[in-house]
Amino acid sequence: MDKFIIEGGHRLQGSLTVSGSKNSALPILAATLLTRERCVIHRVPNLSDTRHMLELLRYLGAEVYYEQGTVIVRAETIHAQAPYDLVRKMRASICILGPLLARCGYAQVSLPGGCVIGDRPIDIHLHGLRALGATITTESGNIHASATRLVGQEIFMGGKFGSTVLGTDNVMMAATRADGTTIIENAACEPEVVDLAQVLCKMGASIQGAGTRRIEIQGARELHGFEHTIIPDRIEAGTFMVAAAITRSAIQIRGVCRSHMQAILSQLEACGVRFSAEGQTLSLSVPEKLNALEIATDTYPGFPTDMQAQFCALLSITSGISVVTDKIFPNRFMHISELKRMGAQADLQGNTVIIKGVPYLSGAPVMASDLRASAALVLAGLAAKGNTEVLRVYHIDRGYERIDEKLRAVGAVIKRVPQ
Ligand code: EPZ
Repeated sequence: MDKFIIEGGHRLQGSLTVSGSKNSALPILAATLLTRERCVIHRVPNLSDTRHMLELLRYLGAEVYYEQGTVIVRAETIHAQAPYDLVRKMRASICILGPLLARCGYAQVSLPGGCVIGDRPIDIHLHGLRALGATITTESGNIHASATRLVGQEIFMGGKFGSTVLGTDNVMMAATRADGTTIIENAACEPEVVDLAQVLCKMGASIQGAGTRRIEIQGARELHGFEHTIIPDRIEAGTFMVAAAITRSAIQIRGVCRSHMQAILSQLEACGVRFSAEGQTLSLSVPEKLNALEIATDTYPGFPTDMQAQFCALLSITSGISVVTDKIFPNRFMHISELKRMGAQADLQGNTVIIKGVPYLSGAPVMASDLRASAALVLAGLAAKGNTEVLRVYHIDRGYERIDEKLRAVGAVIKRVPQ
């Protein structure tokens, strides 16, 4: 298990380039199971999560090639049984359930289980697939789904935390092979859902309303291969913007899709960060004094839960009292105890943390616990006085492509030490 050693206090300069979106690549890779034909996907980030998905596709019988960010998949003859030891490595594997059910008429996928940010239920996924006509049972840790045919329905896809991203993906993919029309009400609106819908339309499906709460899908007899380029990763871009803000640095971030980041940009501007845009490049300028914020995460286009931890790190050293509430994953605060080890003053009350800004953080050994918490600790280390050791960086390698190399290239003093 590698660790990062970060020497804090260095301003960043130069430009960072955003990779393709992890959360778009994963469901799009799953969608290749819907066709026997060749699928070509560009700008797939080289992450442990994407590598796990490719391993899963190979296990299911697909031919998979991965070269310089381009993945070629041909799922000509596949089976539909995904074992626990593959699925447990990455919760998002659950998004193969809809495609396998639609393609093979049955699927056995291990229940993904929870993770440190929450118990991660899939009840809404199963509700949607049952509505399309699937018979689904769960026993001894596996989901057994079968359907002689899928029939389009009007389906409400919501729970107490609102819409579900991968649940919307699963039902949308299954509906492309259902007879008739499916309406998904309360669909997730994330850009990654829109990217998947664009791929399904390239494959021959007819989908209207992706990006809104109501998606209409007409089933198709056959789905074809496709070629597609993944959208930029808005969370990686947001993480880099916070790296600039927390170190008070003026840097450029290339390959940004601003329209996907309005909530993030709005909060950073409220904090005091200034932006100038030229095409897909954003130039940031950051004053010494930054403002406290009140943030509540929400489903898209609200403030993303995947940026909550990174903002907690930033708000630890902005003057004033900040309040951060996570309405999507109420327990997603593993980073707070580690930030407090670095001198942050934060008081966690249920799904809300009150942060009193301090003049500076102090470097310390800290433990990464999940993907975005790890990113928050790296950001805190960039700004802290002295050295910070972030242990178990395999968490961060799940969702950030070569983040140490990218940060070093703009002046951060960060090195990866193999353990
Ligand atoms: C996706 O996860 C993302 N992952 C997550 O990013 C992201 O945090 C999340 O959406 C919310 O935006 C990928 O896209 C691979 P949800 P997903 O279903 O789809 C509850 C990262 O850091 N819920 O939208 O699994 C659930 O417990 C990752 O890149 C149910 O109750 O999340 C949560 O509270 C972490 N029943 C809320 O809904 C269900 O059947 C939103 O979850 C499904 C979800």
